[in-house]
Amino acid sequence: MPELALNGGKPVRGRMLPYGHQSIGEEDIQAVVEVLRSDWLTTGPGVPAFEEAFAAQVGAKYAVAVSSGTAALHAAAFAAGIGPGDEVVVPAMTFAATANCVAFQQGTPVFADVDPATLLLDPAQVEAKITPRTKAVIAVDYAGQPCDYDRLRTIVDQYGLVLVDDACHALGGKYKSRSVGTLADLSAFSLHPVKGITTGEGGVITTDDPKLVQRMRVFRNHGIISDYRQRQEVGPWVYEMVDLGYNYRLTDFQCALGLSQLRRLPGWVARRQAIARRYDHAFANLPAVNALRVRPDVSHAYHLYVIRLNIAKLRVDRATVFAALRAEGLGVNVHYIPVHLHPYYRKQFGTGPGLCPVAETAYEQIISLPIFPRMSDEDEEDVIDAVSKVAGVYAI
Ligand SMILES: Cc1ncc(COP(=O)(O)O)c(C=O)c1O
Repeated sequence: MPELALNGGKPVRGRMLPYGHQSIGEEDIQAVVEVLRSDWLTTGPGVPAFEEAFAAQVGAKYAVAVSSGTAALHAAAFAAGIGPGDEVVVPAMTFAATANCVAFQQGTPVFADVDPATLLLDPAQVEAKITPRTKAVIAVDYAGQPCDYDRLRTIVDQYGLVLVDDACHALGGKYKSRSVGTLADLSAFSLHPVKGITTGEGGVITTDDPKLVQRMRVFRNHGIISDYRQRQEVGPWVYEMVDLGYNYRLTDFQCALGLSQLRRLPGWVARRQAIARRYDHAFANLPAVNALRVRPDVSHAYHLYVIRLNIAKLRVDRATVFAALRAEGLGVNVHYIPVHLHPYYRKQFGTGPGLCPVAETAYEQIISLPIFPRMSDEDEEDVIDAVSKVAGVYAI
């Protein structure tokens, strides 16, 4: 039996391997430097160039670039017309921003439980949460696996709701050969460094509806419009603030980085999928370690590789396994604490334990392992060795 690093033994790795990391090449640096030497640091030609390339990449008609994934969700919530008194169904197993965007608009997030095998929003649970006040559903492509959009579309059409995809994990993923970014009325992406591509911080919303695009372009710029005819009549300084908007603009040098990164997206998704296949294969022999189920009709973008511990086959809890993996040099993480358990939601919306039992149980058992395109074959082996070592030592 190997001695765990936690107990003073030799760790599998000396240097911590993070769970996610950006891939920045010389071409990315050159693209950013070129913009820094130009006249336009923001609101210049780089923004539409990136938006057009992003829309083309996912096969949507339009893309709107904003300053973060959170801003993308907020713009989508605004464009969807969510306001005071509106309810929006969101999954419990997600990052807080999915629900926060509803609260930003003074709506009420209504938490629905997830499927135990995939941890994706369960369409049956969505339907159970619909009331006459429901305005929209925000699906989350958790870990990078697209939700069941055929079933979700049937439900939203039946009740006349807007369907938003929180696609922050899933750039490059597919559902029944259709790309993420085309599966909902509005799809929100994050360009944070651990995501599919990065602009440092950044976000994008894709849609096929030009009216929604117009609303989001105004929203990201303080709610300001500048009407050509008025400027002719009154003066070139004239503009009007017609909505309560924000400064959610993405800079030109960030857009240049995004455009440069986008070219390598397909290769990076393939690399993530190859790492996941290797993990699946290695962990199939470990009774205490289960991979999440991947449906046969999807192409998984693997922003995260999440394992679910079979606690009945271990003599310790998740926290101990987590600490042991960290001690072995893996920068493991947990995605996520169910949102309805956060103090803000308990206080403001009266949520709490028992509301979404599947998500709550899963939360006690999940761990995200390192997965990112620039990982070496040795890094992959270290992950497999560390998980096998820890699961072996703690196995019953
Ligand atoms: C599911 C989900 N939604 C929204 C966000 C927010 O994205 P950002 O960090 O770019 O604001 C994240 C970020 O981690 C996320 O994982």
